Amino acid sequence: MERKYVIRGKKPLKGEIEVSGAKNASLPAICATLLAPGIYKLKKVPKVRDVFCMLRIMEHLGAVYKFEKDYLKIDTTGINRASVPYELASQIRASILFLGALVGAFKEAEVPLPGGCAIGKRPVDFHIRGLSQLGAEIKLDKGNLIVKAKKLKGTEIVLDFPSVTATENLMMAGCFAEGETIIKNAAKEPEVVFLGEMLKKMGANIKGYGEDTIYIKGKKKLKSINIKIIPDRIEAGTYLVLGALMEENEVVVKNVEEEHLETPIIKLEEMGITLEKVGKNSFLVKRGKSIFPVNVMTAPYPGFPTDLQPFFAVLLTQAEGISFVTENIFENRFLYVFELNRMGADIKVEEKTAIIKGPTPLTGSPVKATDLRAGAALVLSGLCAENTTTVYNIELIERGYENFVKKLSGVGAEIKVTESES
Ligand code: EPZ
Repeated sequence: MERKYVIRGKKPLKGEIEVSGAKNASLPAICATLLAPGIYKLKKVPKVRDVFCMLRIMEHLGAVYKFEKDYLKIDTTGINRASVPYELASQIRASILFLGALVGAFKEAEVPLPGGCAIGKRPVDFHIRGLSQLGAEIKLDKGNLIVKAKKLKGTEIVLDFPSVTATENLMMAGCFAEGETIIKNAAKEPEVVFLGEMLKKMGANIKGYGEDTIYIKGKKKLKSINIKIIPDRIEAGTYLVLGALMEENEVVVKNVEEEHLETPIIKLEEMGITLEKVGKNSFLVKRGKSIFPVNVMTAPYPGFPTDLQPFFAVLLTQAEGISFVTENIFENRFLYVFELNRMGADIKVEEKTAIIKGPTPLTGSPVKATDLRAGAALVLSGLCAENTTTVYNIELIERGYENFVKKLSGVGAEIKVTESES
């Protein structure tokens, strides 16, 4: 059965949207529970496809989990294997995070080499090189990374690029490496900082996370803990852009960690869009009649996040003039442009830059999600387009947006899921 969103556009939206816990903080946090056998309570983990996928892998490894009231309870006292099955791992790239946790805790791991995806090849050479430098022997056998380490020995690792999950993998493995592990050119994303806080709370001797260099002194063992997941800054950015697409200035986004969105908020202000604080971590999105064109360039945190690039492109189709969006992180993150142009946008992609001429009225049409964020961006374009937009491949969007239809309908959007013979 083909499930799709059917959206009736141009409805003025009004009300509050609450941001959930961060998917990309929850995924490494789930893997980190392998580092110490015990019972963990992780609050505000979003119930999205990516999380359930990682939890199915945890069950395969011997863990038991249950969503209780407002927390996810994970019991890792029964972990009895260190190999991740292809049919589960191939559904989610973040399964590579099991590598660092399993090698750290059990000195062995078998994890399928993740495939690429729509937005790029997504290699894992930094992960492999870093773990090898810690003393792990890694070989590729029938598509699986087979990792063994008699012991892990701390050393200085310099990442070619501040890769988020490579940093997270090396943080987890470093917790049990003898001596000191130093990770240079580390990723500084808030989700990396969250993992650092979690590991520290578990008893790891770790510092410097959130800066260029992370220092970890290996320990013999860690302990299980309870922790609350940070808000999802990408989901927050998604709804701030939704508010900016509406001229009526009546959308409030709640549970927004402002300091995690500094660069996108500055960019919105350049476009003539401001956030009025109306409560603790709650913001009313306000804009004038017209939106100003800008230049967006994605970069590692604290630069402009690549994950918000598709949403700003949709917004810039409504700006008065020519805007430039340059994607510097992934090699293929403009696939949604072709779908947007079918709705009436005027975007040309040259090399790594999308040149967007605005304003162009958007009209509803059938479109398909090419990746998680592009799919959500097409939903936003449907909400500000004339007539009806049908979005296909919505499973991709459900990977990262908790209660997406419910939250949008809650502010008056006309959106529903329909099923039809594929
Ligand atoms: C994380 O992916 C996020 N995923 C992505 O979010 C996000 O887009 C990305 O970071 C960038 O911010 C999770 O946290 C689960 P990278 P990750 O390693 O870690 C190259 C979403 O929408 N690279 O920082 O895979 C890579 O090809 C997802 O939730 C290597 O060359 O991204 C890319 O060009 C999409 N070799 C660049 O580095 C490596 O070994 C950044 O990738 C690793 C990465």
